[in-house]
Amino acid sequence: MNLSQQVEQHLPGQLLRQIGEIRTQAAGRGEKVYLVGGIVRDLLLGEPSLNSGLRFDLDLVIEGDAVGLAQDIAETGQAKLLTHQQFGTARLDYESFTMDMATARKETYAKPGALPAVTPGTLKDDLFRRDFSINAMAISLAADDYGHLIDPYQGRSDLEHRLIRVLHPRSFSDDPTRILRAVRYEQRLGFALEAQTARLLKRDAPVLDMISGDRIRHELELIFREDRPECAISHLAELEVLQRIDPSLTADKGMVDRFQRARQPGQPEGLPSLFFCLLVYALSISRVEQFLIRLNTPAKLAHAIRDTLRLKTELTKLESPSLKPSEIYDLLQEYDTLALEANAIASEYSTAGRHLRLFLTELRYVRPTLNGEALKRLGISSGPEMGEILRTLRKARLDGEVSTKEEEERLTIYLTACNSHKKPEPDPE
Ligand code: CTP
Repeated sequence: MNLSQQVEQHLPGQLLRQIGEIRTQAAGRGEKVYLVGGIVRDLLLGEPSLNSGLRFDLDLVIEGDAVGLAQDIAETGQAKLLTHQQFGTARLDYESFTMDMATARKETYAKPGALPAVTPGTLKDDLFRRDFSINAMAISLAADDYGHLIDPYQGRSDLEHRLIRVLHPRSFSDDPTRILRAVRYEQRLGFALEAQTARLLKRDAPVLDMISGDRIRHELELIFREDRPECAISHLAELEVLQRIDPSLTADKGMVDRFQRARQPGQPEGLPSLFFCLLVYALSISRVEQFLIRLNTPAKLAHAIRDTLRLKTELTKLESPSLKPSEIYDLLQEYDTLALEANAIASEYSTAGRHLRLFLTELRYVRPTLNGEALKRLGISSGPEMGEILRTLRKARLDGEVSTKEEEERLTIYLTACNSHKKPEPDPE
C-alpha cells in the first residue's frame, strides 16, 4: 500500500518540506526514517486533524541514531533541539509543529506496571512495544519506498473492522495506562474492544493499583481533552475500571449531565481541571481526600476540587431569590473560579445556579470607577480606611446605588464625614 499521496495531501507544506530534509539527511547517513503512531492511524482513517489539535505532533522512528540525525537537522534549520542521549530520543520544535524522533527500540518490563528497560531494536520491535495494533503501524519516508505501509500486526485490518486490539496478552499488565487509553480510543473513534482484548483488560484492571497517581491523572486528563469525555468515563465505570481508581466514583446520570453541560457553548472548553471537579462532585469531602492522594494531585487542582465541594455545601445560602448582588458577591468572592464553574454547571437550573452565573459573568468584574489614586486626591490616605471605602463603593456599584463617578465621589465624601464623626475627640491635653 502506498500512502505517499495521503501524506502529501494531509500534512502542512512546511512540515512536508521538513520531512523532505530529514529524508535527505537520513539517506546521507545510511539510516531509515518512518512515520509512526497516531498520525499513521489518522492518515489511514483520512482524519489527520484528529492528531493535530492546533499543532501537529509527529512521531518518527529511526533505524539508526535518532539523536545524531536530529542534531544534523537542527544545524540546517530553525528548530529548537532537545535531546535525551540515554534514551536515544530527540525533539525538534518548529514554530507550528513538533517532531519527536526516536531510535528504534525494544522494551522489556521487569514487573507489571514498572517502567520499561529499553534496548536498541528493529522497526518491528519498536512497533511491537506499542499499545494497540491501530497505533503500531509505520509509513516509510525513505526515498526508495516513500509511502510504504509497514503493518506487521494487522493494524489496517483492525481499523477496517473498527477494533481496539492489544498486540500480546501481557500488554495491559506491562503498561496499565493502556487500560484507560483503550477506552479513550474506543470512544473517540467509535470502535469496539476486540473480544480477547476486553477479557485481558478486565483481567488486568487490578494492576492499575500498582501505578503512580501521576500516570493515572495524566491519562484522565487526556480523556478530559476528548470531545465527549463522559462516554469514556461511563464505559470505564461499566468495565469496573473507574472504581479501581476510587471506589466511590460513579458514572451516573448526574455525572453525564454535568459533563455534557460543561462542554456546551459558553462553558470553558477542554479544561481538564474542570472535569476533575465535576467527576468528584458527588463524593463526600472525606472521600475526596483519598482521591486527591491517590492521584497525587497538584496543589492548585486540589485546591479547586476542595473548594468545589465546600461551595456545594453552601449552595442553600444562594437559593434565596431576594439576594442582593452585593450579597451574592460576598458569598462567592473567595472561591476558586473552577469551583464556581463546577457548581454553576451542577446547579444550572436552580436559583443558586443563576446567582453563580451572574457572579461569573458580571459581578466578579464590578469595580468602582474611583481607585486608590483617585481617593488620595480626595484627601484619603492609604490604609484600612481606604480599603473600607473601596469595598463600600464596590457594594454600592453592585447594588446600583451609584452608577457614575460623581455619585461615587459624593458617597466617598459622605463616608469620610461619617468616619471623622466616629473618630475619638483629640485629647485637649
Ligand atoms: N504508545 C504506547 N503506549 C503508551 C503510550 C503511547 O504504545 N502507553 C505509543 C502508541 O503507538 C502511540 C504513540 O506511542 O500511537 C504516541 O503516543 P501518543 O502521542 O500518546 O498517542 P497518539 O496516538 O500519537 O496521539 P493521540 O492519542 O493524541 O491521538
